[in-house]
Amino acid sequence: MQPGLRAAFAGAALALGAAVYQPPAKAAEISIACGALGVEFQLCKEGAEAWAAESGHTVRLVNTPNSTTERLALYQQLLAAGAEDIDVFQIDVIWPGMLANHFIDLRPYSNGAEAEHFSAIVENNTVDDKLIAMPWFTDAGILYYRKDLLEAHGKTVPETWQELTETAAAVQAAERAKGNDKLWGFVWQGKAYEGLTCDALEWIDSFGGGAIVDAKGKITINNDKAAAALDMAAGWVGTISPPGVLNYAEEEARGVFQSGNAVFMRNWPYAWAPANSADSPVRDKVGVAALPKGGPDGKNSGTLGGWQLAVSKYSANPEAAASLAMYLTSAAEQKRRAITGSYNPTIASLYQDEEVLYANPFFGSLYDTFTSAVARPSKIAGAKYNRVSNEFWNATHAVLSGKMDGATSLAQLEKKLKRISRNERW
Ligand code: GLC
Repeated sequence: MQPGLRAAFAGAALALGAAVYQPPAKAAEISIACGALGVEFQLCKEGAEAWAAESGHTVRLVNTPNSTTERLALYQQLLAAGAEDIDVFQIDVIWPGMLANHFIDLRPYSNGAEAEHFSAIVENNTVDDKLIAMPWFTDAGILYYRKDLLEAHGKTVPETWQELTETAAAVQAAERAKGNDKLWGFVWQGKAYEGLTCDALEWIDSFGGGAIVDAKGKITINNDKAAAALDMAAGWVGTISPPGVLNYAEEEARGVFQSGNAVFMRNWPYAWAPANSADSPVRDKVGVAALPKGGPDGKNSGTLGGWQLAVSKYSANPEAAASLAMYLTSAAEQKRRAITGSYNPTIASLYQDEEVLYANPFFGSLYDTFTSAVARPSKIAGAKYNRVSNEFWNATHAVLSGKMDGATSLAQLEKKLKRISRNERW
């Protein structure tokens, strides 16, 4: 059609009124649930708004609880009710087996983009041959330390938990003697929630005590090495770690470390960016290493974490929602989030990107920690994973709070897990 003719035709159609004139597809409002640890919420907002400006749709951000355990409860409620309130869900790496039925297959919208991402995560997010979520960022537990304090006291970065315990105690005592009386040796996640499952799995696996349940479904947790690992951690509470650590999640640990009141911290990579922000008291004083080994013949072990974006089956606009999920998980967005917020990409090539490595030197030095992290038994436990983890973190918390020793608590846990799994048949 010639341009003049087209204008005339459009004018005529308009004049005929709504019956003939087809307005452009209506812009949709897409709501997305984002986390808010560190600079996470701000980054999500910027990314989602950039997508909105490009696509002509609008976005609404939904705030969710920081604790992954509380977030799961909220999501389960919304999804069980088939609520349309949230189109795009940020989901934990351990949830596909529990929530898959509520999400759409993203393959019709992905154009094969998932092939760029770590295949183990894509596999984790594939349930019944449906890609129910796109990988957004990956996580592994790492050790943060104060370079300045170790240097001042002639200490090196600990390679075993025993060394960490001794160094933390020595630096804490020497600093307190100088009047630095708020200083603690080691902060971590000791509250009874999913984060404690992650920390305790690291201690246990680093001693060679396994991963609670093995890949075949056998419950392996009731063993001497696992019990010794829990007893060791119980010894930290009130000595090198504040008694309040029994109520710490990620942000509480970060608060203490970032204000300069801890020598060591166990946390996820996200804590790097805020620790080095302009107003951080520990800016440029922090180093990052793999978590210590259980002993000279133990291994470094970081728990595999990470988050994905999934589109709700109950969304009124699945196509626009999928477009937002694809935009946010793209290489360009992952690069921006890595540089500004130290969120680990799920695309291998970004670990060779100079700007990403300049902002996060440990993405290069700890590459193996990220790619060989120990997984929680969510694949084998499937829909039962949260019950398994709940029993495990409670059994761990009982040891940490001095209610019983590791061996007693793990023997009880084994019985409970046998019941949940119907004698390992799952
Ligand atoms: C981090 C991890 C996630 C884990 C959670 C526990 O957000 O990425 O996988 O479940 O911490 O607190």
